[in-house]
Amino acid sequence: KEAKLWGGRFEEGVTDAVERFTESISFDKALYKHDIRGSKAHASMLAKQGLITDEDRDSIHDGLTEIQRRIENGEFEWRTDREDVHMNIEAALTDLIGEAAKKLHTARSRNDQVLTDFRLWCRDAIDAILVQIKHLQVSLVRLAIKNEGLIVPGYTHLQRAQPVLLQHLLLAFVEQLERDAGRLLDCKERLNFCPLGACALAGTGLPIDRFMTSAALGFTAPMRNSIDAVSDRDFVLEFLSANSITAIHLSRLGEEWVLWASEEFGFITPSDAVSTGSSIMPQKKNPDPMELVRGKSARVVGDLVTLLMLCKGLPLAYNRDLQEDKEPVFDSVKTILGMLEVSAEFAQNITFNKERIQKALPAGHLDATTLADYLVNKGVPFRTSHDIVGRAVAVCVSKSCQLQELSLDELRSINPVFDKDVYEFLGVENAVKKFRSYGSTGSECVATQLDHWVTKLGLT
Ligand code: ARG
Repeated sequence: KEAKLWGGRFEEGVTDAVERFTESISFDKALYKHDIRGSKAHASMLAKQGLITDEDRDSIHDGLTEIQRRIENGEFEWRTDREDVHMNIEAALTDLIGEAAKKLHTARSRNDQVLTDFRLWCRDAIDAILVQIKHLQVSLVRLAIKNEGLIVPGYTHLQRAQPVLLQHLLLAFVEQLERDAGRLLDCKERLNFCPLGACALAGTGLPIDRFMTSAALGFTAPMRNSIDAVSDRDFVLEFLSANSITAIHLSRLGEEWVLWASEEFGFITPSDAVSTGSSIMPQKKNPDPMELVRGKSARVVGDLVTLLMLCKGLPLAYNRDLQEDKEPVFDSVKTILGMLEVSAEFAQNITFNKERIQKALPAGHLDATTLADYLVNKGVPFRTSHDIVGRAVAVCVSKSCQLQELSLDELRSINPVFDKDVYEFLGVENAVKKFRSYGSTGSECVATQLDHWVTKLGLT
C-alpha cells in the first residue's frame, strides 16, 4: 500500500472499512477543475513571494494542465486510498513531476483549499442557474405574448374570484423568478471572498500574499479571519436557501399546470413531447414532468435541511463532518437546474384551450366585485354596495343565471341606484376592462408589465 500524504507519524494504515467510510473522492472529484485552478494561482503566488522557484512554478503549472487533460479524457485514475480530490491531484502531480510537486502545499491546508474550490464551484453553479432562470422567464413571457387578450378566471381559495388576463398571471411567475435570481446574485456577492491562505485555521508565518491569490481567482478580497474562513458554511446555507425558495416557486407553477391540464379544468393541453402515458390505462396522458417538478422541490428543501443539521452545534474551526457539505449542494444544483429546464420546456409545449376557457368564464360571478365598484362610483359606500351585490348574486343563484342576465327592473328592485350603464360593468370582458390601478389586470397595465419584461429580457 502507498503511504498516505499525511502518514509520517503513523505506524499502520487505516482499515478498509475506515478508508471506504472516510473517502470523499467518489463525489468531490466534481471539484477537480476548481482545485487545479486554485493550485495554479497558489503556485504563482508562492513563486512571486520567493517561496518556490519560477521553474518549480512552471513545472507545477504544466503538470496540473496535463492532469486536467487526463481527467477530461477519462485517462485519470481516481484512487480511494488517496482519499479526496485534493490529495488525488497532488499525489498524481508528484508521480508526474517529482520534487517540485512536494512544494505545492506550502502555506496551504486542505481546509482552506477545499473551501476555495467549493466557493469557486458554487460561483459557477449560481451562474448556470441564473441562465436557466432567465430561460424560463423568457419561455413564460413568450407564452404570454402568444396568448394576448385571453381572459381566465382568477382564483382565491381555489374558488372563482375575479377575471384576469392570462398574461397577468404568467407574469406573476416571471416576477417570482426575478426575485429568485436576485437572491442568488446577493448570495454570490457574499460568498465571493477568498479563504486561501487561511491554512489549517491560524494562517501562516510564511510570507504569502493572500491578496494576489484572491485577485487571481476573481474573488473580491481575501477573507479577513482565518478561523472564520475554514469554518464558515453559511455561504452554502444561503445558496441552498435560495434554491429552496426557487424550488417552492416551481412547485407552485407545477401544481397550477397539473391542475389546468386536468379534465376538470381543461385550460391547457400539453403536447405529447412533455407528457407520458400509463402502463395499464390506454387513454391516459399525464403531465408527469410538472408533477416531478413539484415532487423534486422536496429534494431541494431536504438538501438545505441536511446542511442546516450538519452545521448545527459544530465547534470552531474545521471538523471532518464538514466533508458532508458537498453532496447536498451538488444534488440541490443538479435538481434545480433540471426543474428549471423542464419547466421551460413545458411552457414551450402547452396550448391554451381558448374555447373551453371561454365557456367556463361565465360561471362563478367573476364580475361581482366590479359591480360593487360601479355602485361606489354612484356614491354608495362600499360596505353597502357589497351587500347589494351580494343580494343580486343570491337572485342569480336562485335563478341559475349570471349578473348580466338580470333585467334593470330586477336590479332596481334590489336597489334603485342601478342605471342602464350598469351593463358596461357586467360580463368578464367588461369587468377586465375596468381594472386600472397600477399593477392590476387591466389590459393597459398588463401591456406595461409585458413591455418591461420584453425590454429587460432582451426580447423583440
Ligand atoms: N475532503 C475534506 C473535506 O471535504 C478535505 C479537508 C480535510 N481536512 C482534514 N483536516 N482532514 O472536508
